[in-house]
Amino acid sequence: MNEISKIVEQGYNKIAEDYYSHRNLNKFNMELERFTSLISEDAHVLDVGCGAGIPTAKFLVEKGVKVTGIDLSETMLTLARKNVPTAKFIKMDMNELEFNGNTFNGIISVYTLFHVPKEKHLEIFNQFFKVLKPEGILLINTGISESEGISNFFGVPMFWSNFKPKTTLDLVKKVGFSIISEAVLERGGEYQYWIFGIKKKP
Ligand SMILES: C[S@@+](CC[C@H](N)C(=O)[O-])C[C@H]1O[C@@H](n2cnc3c(N)ncnc32)[C@H](O)[C@@H]1O
Repeated sequence: MNEISKIVEQGYNKIAEDYYSHRNLNKFNMELERFTSLISEDAHVLDVGCGAGIPTAKFLVEKGVKVTGIDLSETMLTLARKNVPTAKFIKMDMNELEFNGNTFNGIISVYTLFHVPKEKHLEIFNQFFKVLKPEGILLINTGISESEGISNFFGVPMFWSNFKPKTTLDLVKKVGFSIISEAVLERGGEYQYWIFGIKKKP
């Protein structure tokens, strides 16, 4: 595991409960609804950086979708297993996805990519493309201004990293995704750049 992942893992292990006590769990329900409308009822979705399993994994499971969540933080995973007992949660770094190609019908990675160094984003998008089945749906978000560094987050050092939206869009297209929609959206008082993509059949 790289040094940045260790900082993020240690940070979330300490702040998981505090973070969720301040989290607005309904702020991106519209995007979750839309994602669900784009996948089939028997879909298998990978939630990357699943945190405590809420809202994403819980929302999907309640719609009848099969969910696998991965996260760096054991504390988050313990909460996720409690919050969403019917989903499967695995400790895994998104920099080193350990799934076969063509496994999932959808991938959601929201409020997470900004914890991974910019130089890794292209390879991560490549891996997302690989593990999605043809016609698989991607939903990601990132911050909206280019930055990289460590700052205090709930009392712990936390790593943050973002490209400008246009750069993120170019990388997502470069690995092969077709874009369903992309926009900077205000959700819960903060702005993020959201992309819905699809792995079109070759
Ligand atoms: C801000 S929280 C968001 C959690 C969840 N996606 C949500 O929207 O509630 C970010 C989560 O991403 C996880 N994370 C950060 N970097 C990761 C990585 N490289 N691989 C897997 N999980 C990661 C953190 O441990 C944390 O649980």
